[in-house]
Amino acid sequence: MMLEGKTALITGSARGIGLEFARAFIAQGATVALADINAEAVAKAAESLGSKAIGIQMDITSQSSIDAGFEAAVAKMGQLDILVNNAALFSAAPTVEITRSDYDRLFAVNVAGTLFCTQAAARHMIARGQGGKIINMASQAGRRGEGLVTVYCATKAAVISLTQSAGLDLIKHKINVNAIAPGVVDGEHWDGVDAFFAKYENRPAGEKKRLVGDAVPYGRMGTAADLTGMAIFLATPAADYIVAQTFGVDGGNWMA
Ligand SMILES: NC(=O)c1ccc[n+]([C@@H]2O[C@H](COP(=O)([O-])OP(=O)(O)OC[C@H]3O[C@@H](n4cnc5c(N)ncnc54)[C@H](O)[C@@H]3O)[C@@H](O)[C@H]2O)c1
Repeated sequence: MMLEGKTALITGSARGIGLEFARAFIAQGATVALADINAEAVAKAAESLGSKAIGIQMDITSQSSIDAGFEAAVAKMGQLDILVNNAALFSAAPTVEITRSDYDRLFAVNVAGTLFCTQAAARHMIARGQGGKIINMASQAGRRGEGLVTVYCATKAAVISLTQSAGLDLIKHKINVNAIAPGVVDGEHWDGVDAFFAKYENRPAGEKKRLVGDAVPYGRMGTAADLTGMAIFLATPAADYIVAQTFGVDGGNWMA
């Protein structure tokens, strides 16, 4: 067990990659606070994972909700060793149709949410004096632009940048900040992405998903389970000397 006795908070973990990370961390011996804006879904998700899972309703666009969520997690788990900044929103639109409200919504969750959850976790970790691990979910979309995906790509580029700066700042407290950049991961998130492309590229439902899967050098779309190895590794002492990096876990889609 690689995370025996460790505690983690994972944002956006009522479904998808965050939920799979929670399952994998618990299987490695950790106690996990699942934090999600969807109260009902996160309660159900935590219940499905058993006694080492705690469900917390938290909206990462609200500072008071972040403060209360981290307080509750630390009160219940006694400490905080690991944060995974996983919650995010996606949208797509031609550049000339992007709205201010969509831009603000995505940056509030994907960028400000990541930054202020990092801050909340770092404050707890610094006060405790035993370091910690912060793992941000970036994306291949943060490595290069994509037509129709201007805003989401910009938010994920910002996550890579936040990982670098916070990583350099917090390592003096033995807090490692690193990121994972997935490629295309099957699940409800990508069903939503497919719907955007169906609309703007005039495709039948499911076609874009099939095409992106076929184009992955590994030969298929990723699954949430494909990402858990990197997440667990980054949460262990084996990653102590890794600082401010973003790792592609994408079946070969993108190369540095
Ligand atoms: N699925 C992919 O193909 C893919 C690819 C690259 C990167 N990623 C990234 O991986 C992460 C997880 O992706 P996923 O596919 O599991 O997404 P998902 O849409 O399935 O899950 C996101 C979760 O975040 C929660 N959430 C949304 N807004 C929130 C808020 N304000 N406060 C708290 N929780 C909130 C949602 O309720 C949901 O449970 C995201 O950061 C995403 O950008 C995903």
